[in-house]
Amino acid sequence: MKQTLIAFALSVAAVAPAMADQALAQSKNCMACHAVDKKVVGPAFKDVAAKYAGQKDAADKLAAKVIKGGSGVWGPVPMPANPQVNEAEAKKLVAWVLSQK
Ligand code: HEC
Repeated sequence: MKQTLIAFALSVAAVAPAMADQALAQSKNCMACHAVDKKVVGPAFKDVAAKYAGQKDAADKLAAKVIKGGSGVWGPVPMPANPQVNEAEAKKLVAWVLSQK
């Protein structure tokens, strides 16, 4: 069973890295508040990508914000902290978010 799961995860990652990252976002509950192309509770990930396009330090700042939460950029609703996400996962998720166009 475990081996089947690992084989499945590897094949998903090999075939479609972008989808694997979306699966990570889903498993980390990001998609409860976000969608790729429309505002839900939080901003659409496409809008986030557009806003930070070309900003070199954006990825690090956003990864920190994903973990700690924060407010004031997109409206009055704050993003709560996401302690279920570690730094490596936050960076991976933010790289995926910033690649949405
Ligand atoms: C409870 C709802 C909620 C969850 C869960 C959530 N977010 Fe958010 N997110 C928000 C809100 C609301 C904002 C807008 C915050 C602001 O205006 O500063 C936001 C903003 C963001 C931004 C842009 C931040 C900025 O400063 O421009 C990114 C990137 C982001 N979220 C990624 C994630 C990721 C990745 C996850 C999963 C680990 C996640 N969010 C989970 C509600 C949520």
